[in-house]
Amino acid sequence: MYSTEQQRVLFEQTKQLLQPDGHAPADDAFARAELLRNLIRFHEWRYYVQNDPLVSDFEYDLLYKQLQDLEAQFPEVQAEDSPTRRVSPDLTENFTLVAHLTPMLSLGNSYDAADLNTFDEQVKKLCGLPKEADIAYCVEPKYDGGTIALVYENDQLLRGATRGNGEQGDDITPNMRTLRTIPLQAAFSEKGIAKAELRGEALIRKENFDKINQKRQEAGETLFANPRNAATGALRMKDPKETAARGLEAFIYQLGYAVDKEGNNILQNFTSHDESIHLLQSLGFKTPLANTGEGQHLPATKTCQNIAEVIDFCLAWQNYRDEYPYELDGMVVKVNLLDLQARCGYTAHHPRWAIAFKFKARQATTRLRDVEFQVGKSGAVTPVAKLEPVALAGVTVSNVSLHNEEFIKTKDIRIGDQVLVERAGDVIPYIVKSLAELRNGSEIPVEYPKNCPVCGTELIKPEDEAIWRCENAECEAQVLQRMIFHTSKHAMDIEGLGESTIERFYKLGWLHSIADLYRLDYDAIAKLEGFGEKSAANMRKAIDKAKQNPIYRLLHSLSILHLGQKGSRLLAAEIGHVLDLCAWDIERYVEIKDIGPVLAKNVQHFFQNPKNVALLQTMEQLGVNLTQTDDDKKPESAVDGPLSGKNILFTGTLSTCTREEAEAMAAAAGAHLASGVSKNLHILVAGEKAGSKLKKAEALGTVEIWTEAEFLEKIDQKPV
Ligand code: IVH
Repeated sequence: MYSTEQQRVLFEQTKQLLQPDGHAPADDAFARAELLRNLIRFHEWRYYVQNDPLVSDFEYDLLYKQLQDLEAQFPEVQAEDSPTRRVSPDLTENFTLVAHLTPMLSLGNSYDAADLNTFDEQVKKLCGLPKEADIAYCVEPKYDGGTIALVYENDQLLRGATRGNGEQGDDITPNMRTLRTIPLQAAFSEKGIAKAELRGEALIRKENFDKINQKRQEAGETLFANPRNAATGALRMKDPKETAARGLEAFIYQLGYAVDKEGNNILQNFTSHDESIHLLQSLGFKTPLANTGEGQHLPATKTCQNIAEVIDFCLAWQNYRDEYPYELDGMVVKVNLLDLQARCGYTAHHPRWAIAFKFKARQATTRLRDVEFQVGKSGAVTPVAKLEPVALAGVTVSNVSLHNEEFIKTKDIRIGDQVLVERAGDVIPYIVKSLAELRNGSEIPVEYPKNCPVCGTELIKPEDEAIWRCENAECEAQVLQRMIFHTSKHAMDIEGLGESTIERFYKLGWLHSIADLYRLDYDAIAKLEGFGEKSAANMRKAIDKAKQNPIYRLLHSLSILHLGQKGSRLLAAEIGHVLDLCAWDIERYVEIKDIGPVLAKNVQHFFQNPKNVALLQTMEQLGVNLTQTDDDKKPESAVDGPLSGKNILFTGTLSTCTREEAEAMAAAAGAHLASGVSKNLHILVAGEKAGSKLKKAEALGTVEIWTEAEFLEKIDQKPV
């Protein structure tokens, strides 16, 4: 699109125009307007298509403003394809139907490796090639937005249309002109193309979609169900300003039609699909070749040499889809060579040279068989839907939380209902809605229990809470859940003593309270099926190690309501021994910054209970550490220093100290150590040979990047 040299010149020209006393090198208004238009087009391409701006938004706005002012002052310099003319002031009442230059067909579908192999065999047959031949395929994302067709004539954008019925679509040209990813002019003529029709998809970035819905929620408007609905709606707005406000982006994936000055079809002048996509990318369009910025670790398109490579690439993308900034519903596999495409031909519905590989569905309907009520470690009673098992995005789902009574009531969920279940990415599956229209009258409303389903104690719901609770701390279900939490990663972190083992020991009558975890009979364990001497010895080792844990872990492991890791750390820093807390009154707790009256009451209540004190004493006798350790003395979040409240990350090789030493210094200066580069990161300290983390932080633009020397300087300023 632009050579390095051209880019350098355009950048120099920009800088010159942006200087406070910067005189435009051209003094007549026509030349000046032309220069400004060129510069703005270039920066729009860098920003919207390349995702790699060279100037700040502010600088871009200054250029834009200069052009607007110039056009206002000298109307004769205005041009139809000026970047200032994207939004037309006219409202469209009704869209006119326009015929596509060639029909816009659909795609056949495939769902797994076997389907793709069948497709490959079919292609070889149609091409008259032997079974052993390798066909090259271009694989690219199947974008899930609104389909568009753009017509360019004499290098100008002439028309934009929706797909419509495939033969004709709505003319949405004024709306299409507002998309910064769609060039208003493109140098097709340099490639001998007088008129072209391009196919693509208009999309909304996922993060942008979340913002749109957030705004709608604040304004009391109905929310969009997904980015696709928001995008297709945006394409057909009556006011182009509203289309512009949705921040649509167009990805072009197909050159559908191309003729030369004489009107001859020159599509077949290209040898392959990927060649035509490279051409479109070089003309300034956003195509599957575009880099979409942070978060994209897999190329979006690949020319595969055979179907086995296609299958690998499609399956890799199935796992990766959630990290991509746009919604995809699959991949599209296209025979790469155009003469082979021609040999395959078309059905009335789809090309025989292409197929969609659909990702595993994330939504499905299934029947709600029953609702069970589970009691958690602090007595919270949670309704759990028991579903007829259903495959969702590769996992079988049969239990889904229904959260609380309100959730069931507002969604009017009844036993026997068909329900719509969704599982997106790593998100826990949830019930979107029940399908009331499919009821036959046999469905039963969910009856919420008045008493604990395990111990029978009457349930209580504090006024400001959504959850019913069993307040009997001895309730068997609570005891078991507390043991499971006690050994978990966040609490005492005892390896090899997970949920199923604890349940097994519990059923054997070996566990009555968490103290019993520290007096297990390892000889008996060694004799259990599936164990043996070695596993029993490993378990003993893990438990002995946990006995030495710092006390903040022990405090956290006690399942005191609302006491998380942070609160546990704050408390651990203030006491010599866990049982010191028996003497604390509420005032003493709330003196600690970040400990509020509710948490104070819960902890005080716990340590006033003689049963809890006795439990801790027993644990101490069994060798569990209850005394403050060095680790407890400095809770990360409580350190007051020059880096307090900052999230920091180190990358690359440091020259004056090890990574661990640097991290310890940062923590001592009050910083929190981050695990990766994200929007929450404040500081990245980049040593020698810093790689992808540095790139990612630079791309985000919100992270402060320090050298090792700068970091050390800040630390030295730390008050002693
Ligand atoms: S090629 C003749 N490529 O999928 C070529 N389509 O059923 C046919 N789509 O709504 C289309 N991404 O808008 C093609 N990379 C891609 C695509 C893609 C999304 C959509 C297309 C249409 C549907 C086809």
